[in-house]
Amino acid sequence: MSESGKRVAVFGAGYVGLVTGACFAELGHRVVVRDVVPEKIETLRRGDVPIFEPGLDELLARNRERLGFTTDVNEAIDGAEFVYVAVGTPPTYSGDADLSAVWTVIDELPAVDRRIVVCMKSTVPVGTGEKVRHRLDARGLAHVGYVSNPEFTAEGTAVRDFMEPDRIVLGAFEEADGDAVAKLHEGIDAPVVRSDVASAEMIKLAANAALMARISFINEIANVCEATGADVVKVAEGIGWDRRIGKSFLQAGIGFGGSCFPKDSLALKQLAASSGYHFQVLNAVIEVNELQKRRVIGKLKHLLGSLRGKRIALLGLAFKPNTDDTRESPAFVLAGRLLAEGADVLAWDPVAHADGLHGVVQAETVEEALADADAAVLVTAWPELLDVDWASLAARMRSAVLVDGRNMLDPEAMRAAGFRYDAIGRAAT
Ligand SMILES: NC(=O)c1ccc[n+]([C@@H]2O[C@H](COP(=O)([O-])OP(=O)(O)OC[C@H]3O[C@@H](n4cnc5c(N)ncnc54)[C@H](O)[C@@H]3O)[C@@H](O)[C@H]2O)c1
Repeated sequence: MSESGKRVAVFGAGYVGLVTGACFAELGHRVVVRDVVPEKIETLRRGDVPIFEPGLDELLARNRERLGFTTDVNEAIDGAEFVYVAVGTPPTYSGDADLSAVWTVIDELPAVDRRIVVCMKSTVPVGTGEKVRHRLDARGLAHVGYVSNPEFTAEGTAVRDFMEPDRIVLGAFEEADGDAVAKLHEGIDAPVVRSDVASAEMIKLAANAALMARISFINEIANVCEATGADVVKVAEGIGWDRRIGKSFLQAGIGFGGSCFPKDSLALKQLAASSGYHFQVLNAVIEVNELQKRRVIGKLKHLLGSLRGKRIALLGLAFKPNTDDTRESPAFVLAGRLLAEGADVLAWDPVAHADGLHGVVQAETVEEALADADAAVLVTAWPELLDVDWASLAARMRSAVLVDGRNMLDPEAMRAAGFRYDAIGRAAT
């Protein structure tokens, strides 16, 4: 624990803000989290957690005496030395990042006369820090520091990722501000990459783009495997041992979703375009991902014929396991396509809800989802699905068809359990 706890205000009580606040409290700092949604703050004050993120409840509970929650800006800023911005930056219709919540935070900052450091955790386009700097200066707040401290945590493992990051990136205008934010992370053992503000902003966007590129790359390899009789799981294993390549993000599947990758890829594409550059690789990465989600429909049609009136069960709604986040989830795209094909769609997920998915019936259990179904699609790699009695489920289905969109199950075992089983890029099996 840090010897001299600092006072930190965190704006935004979402996935990033709550994890940031809880982890800084764990490091010994006093944290006040501010959000504009009163219900969220009420929930947090009661000791409940409005989102599902493994380990977060325990962390918040353990550090209760160092954590406060408020809707009031002044209460959050009172005595704070660091102001973390962790508000949403969703896409606008044009694909650019919508920074309105960021600007609200900057404009709401009270005119403090002491030195505080504003730290940007939200993912923002390159150039945002520069604009914030101008805006603060124009308000007579030149003494307020600014550091870009992008977040690389992944939902589902966010607490561990924050406490044991691969690196901490700090882009500062003033070296002393970077030093102060580095010190705030004392207790975390990780390399610290110090840079200018624009480079820190770009590091976040480029890291996401690199991960997305790996996913679209292996998905295209999978599609070629299907056409040529190879097994992408073996191929990924074989190339993953290459130290120049590595194993991570080489799981072929039905494409990425989530609250970050889709919007951040669009934002980087638009950022490049607005700067006069056509980012060809990124455009391809995005397009491959869109097509990948739709390939499942072709597989189902191949196995079932017309989908009209067919009962299709989606196993998983969250965009990945261990989160209840369904933003840009491939399940939602699939559900929409299936409904448009005239199918009846049921969905099961251990924590996520089908809210906003009109026409989709949510099942309480995998058994309920698969009863009398014509086919199931494994959409989210929930570990629970490894322990299911697939043979008894196959017997309950109208036709035992399963498309494994995450290559999670053993093809031989699934066929032995009575399924007509298809996966992604596994022609050889
Ligand atoms: N979710 C992730 O895994 C992840 C990972 C890395 C980076 N990021 C980035 O972090 C940022 C936050 O993402 P998130 O997933 O936590 O978003 P989120 O939507 O879960 O949470 C954002 C919160 O900010 C609140 N908010 C809006 N305006 C506010 C204001 N003026 N003051 C205080 N609170 C306000 C909202 O009510 C909401 O609770 C985004 O820019 C995102 O791209 C997210």
